Amino acid sequence: MTISGAAIVGGVCGAPIKHSMSPLIHNAWIAAAGLDAAYVPFAPTPETFETFVNGLRGGAIKGLNVTIPFKERALALADQASDLARMAGAANLLIFEADGSIHADNTDGPGLLGAIDEQAAGYEVSAAPVVILGAGGAARGATAALLLAGAPKVAIVNRTVARAQELADAFGDKVVAAGEADLPALLAEAGLVINATSLGLGGGEGPAADLTLTPETAVVMDMVYKPLRTEFLRRAEAAGRQTVDGLEMLLRQAIPSFERMFGVIPPAQVDARGLLLRVLGEA
Ligand code: ATR
Repeated sequence: MTISGAAIVGGVCGAPIKHSMSPLIHNAWIAAAGLDAAYVPFAPTPETFETFVNGLRGGAIKGLNVTIPFKERALALADQASDLARMAGAANLLIFEADGSIHADNTDGPGLLGAIDEQAAGYEVSAAPVVILGAGGAARGATAALLLAGAPKVAIVNRTVARAQELADAFGDKVVAAGEADLPALLAEAGLVINATSLGLGGGEGPAADLTLTPETAVVMDMVYKPLRTEFLRRAEAAGRQTVDGLEMLLRQAIPSFERMFGVIPPAQVDARGLLLRVLGEA
């Protein structure tokens, strides 16, 4: 790999950042494409995030992916933002322009839609209501992406209904808030059900939704990817539903990030999913 004085530098920041798989993916693509470039991890603290990012203005690096817990703050300090980043209330990609300004974008949304296209090919987001379990940042990002993609209705179901209501209020009348008691009726009309809670992370039980209540054609997605086959996805499979995993979403958000930072599409010869599966101990 060549890193010259003319190299394009990209990176990722989060707290913690140690376990991020983004450097692995991006550097595999950089190497395969033969680019004069590098993608590095940064570990600003919650106290130093703004100082760190402002210090990158005007040419230090080309682009920065942003992960938990900084996505909302990344949007707030940018000078311009895409519609999706604004709707999602969060940015996972900052592009540093030569004039010193920062452009915020969100590639988690395209990642979610790309994962559905890949693993539930032919599913039309605009064809049926969506049920999202959870009302945190992940749920908000998913809601924004699905609305922009034409979803006719998004129901946000959350343990704390007030939080779901806050989210619904921010989006307008296509988004409704609901509690767990409303779930059976919502599942019965759902085309897509997404777990955007942290339930199931690390191998525990997923959300208590009875997935057998969904139409047979429904697609079930989990944003949790550790383990890859979560208990929620295994229940969906047992019910005969098509499933979409969170690892594919992680991979698919990296593709537009790479294009924006390095100006080329990721080389097809890299088996990025295989790489991630090996790191996770799933292959
Ligand atoms: P993120 O920004 O990644 O979405 P978050 O804002 O912490 O993370 O949101 C986590 C989501 O998981 C919330 O919807 C949370 O529900 P509450 O708003 O009621 O806290 C949900 N969640 C976490 N643990 C849960 C549990 N044991 N039962 C039900 N929902 C849970």
